[in-house]
Amino acid sequence: MVVAAQPLAAQAGIEMLAKGGNAFDAAAATALALGVVEPGSSGLGGGGFFLLYIAKEKRFVMIDAREASPRLAGHGEVFAARSSIDGPQAAAVPGLAAGVARLVTTYGRLKRSEITAPAIRLAEDGFTVSPRLASMIQWRHEAFNEAARALFFKNEGELIRQPALAATLRRFAAHGTADFYRGETALRLARDMQRDGGLIRLADLARYRALERQPVTFDYHGFQVVSAALPSSGGMTLAHIFGQLRDDQLQSLPMADRDHLLIEAMKRAYRDRNRYLGDADFVTIPRDYLKPQRLAELRSGITMDHATPSLDIQGTGEMLSEGQDTTHFSVIDGDGNMVSATLSVNYGFGSAYVSPSTGILLNDEMDDFATRPGKGNAYGLVQGLANSVEPGKRMLSSMTPTFVIGPERTLIVGTPGGSRIISMVLLATLGFMLDASPADSWVNAPRFHHQFLPDVVQFEAGAFSDVVAAELKKRGHALQQVAHPYGNMEAILVDHSRQALTGIPDRRGEGAALTME
Ligand code: DON
Repeated sequence: MVVAAQPLAAQAGIEMLAKGGNAFDAAAATALALGVVEPGSSGLGGGGFFLLYIAKEKRFVMIDAREASPRLAGHGEVFAARSSIDGPQAAAVPGLAAGVARLVTTYGRLKRSEITAPAIRLAEDGFTVSPRLASMIQWRHEAFNEAARALFFKNEGELIRQPALAATLRRFAAHGTADFYRGETALRLARDMQRDGGLIRLADLARYRALERQPVTFDYHGFQVVSAALPSSGGMTLAHIFGQLRDDQLQSLPMADRDHLLIEAMKRAYRDRNRYLGDADFVTIPRDYLKPQRLAELRSGITMDHATPSLDIQGTGEMLSEGQDTTHFSVIDGDGNMVSATLSVNYGFGSAYVSPSTGILLNDEMDDFATRPGKGNAYGLVQGLANSVEPGKRMLSSMTPTFVIGPERTLIVGTPGGSRIISMVLLATLGFMLDASPADSWVNAPRFHHQFLPDVVQFEAGAFSDVVAAELKKRGHALQQVAHPYGNMEAILVDHSRQALTGIPDRRGEGAALTME
């Protein structure tokens, strides 16, 4: 089964399974196809994380295809407002091509040319603009460079064809990373960057590697959680929250108490995330970060009748309007191999800059660094020195591809949504663990979120009943309803005893759950 944010991309994965490929081949094809048919959300100009379960080795591994800062961005580089968001200088060295190559070479059964074929076809023949994509284009088109405008400035129902990208994908099919990072594509990309004011140079591309990381794993009340490791903050932040709540019986608490506790735990976990986490190849994470004793102390600081204000840090952090960018998909094959992958170009249409000679839309992942001291980034995150810019460093992410493994059932889960990704995965995981039914509600129930700064509880309409909302306000929580629903979760529920699969796409998006006939 493949559950992905766009049906054509899910189909690309299924095609690989039908050819005899495994979950890793399907993931590679889905990832490349998503980059074509959801061009504002992920792609060859971006990066991401692939969390894998290799069934025959009973082993988990994460492929870190996160972008890296180019060498021209200096130590502690400060970016003027929006310059880390719009334009070629916002782009970091793309990781997706290296990640996909690693996935097929090390874990797949099919050839690189086979897993690339659907993406090439979709780029050449084109696909029609969906309502979701149309609204994203409307939202971001003002930042588009000329090449982006020519490709993507389209209305709903119109066709998007990407011939230059198709040619780039063909080169990737033939020569893999040797082309993308050291060959023709690298040369073209570096030339466009240099001419148009980007920071990425040939040497940055040549140095880039997708890395294998040990996922973060922890147990909670009989479940094993396997999730993204640094440079994603996802797994550690989940571990932090679940660690604080280790001795709580959430299912037996009144709803207002449960939500209060979750909000307070999120607040404390995001505070630590924003302060201490960064690329562990560059910074040292405090050794007691996840120590049970430290987390228990934080838990004991939570009072049930009052919200703790986030006041000890100045400023509230600005938030830009949110996007429908980034993407997630989940895959399982007949052998039990699993993939949970979250991929991104960061903001909607990334930097809004398309490299004319390659057709690659570049990310604006530099904004995930703390690029302006004391100020919030696009997601309002106010982050610290641990996540400051350094040449070659990977910016801290919130992307949280996750497996939650129980005695009888497993959940493959993840979602886009910037800083809110982690709380979304937390709520879905809790729904699964506490067996809230129906399963559909884990993904589709209204959500809430607290990230320390700004000191507000963001929530979707319907997340709290009137009674619970009144109770939370009474305890001092500032409730702020978000303007639009957020997230686009794509999950698979695996029932081991019944050998049954349930695909759960997010109804906020246009995703699809497909299986092999
Ligand atoms: O890595 C991160 O945390 C962000 N670049 C993800 C961006 C995202 O999910 C945007 N989605 N709406």
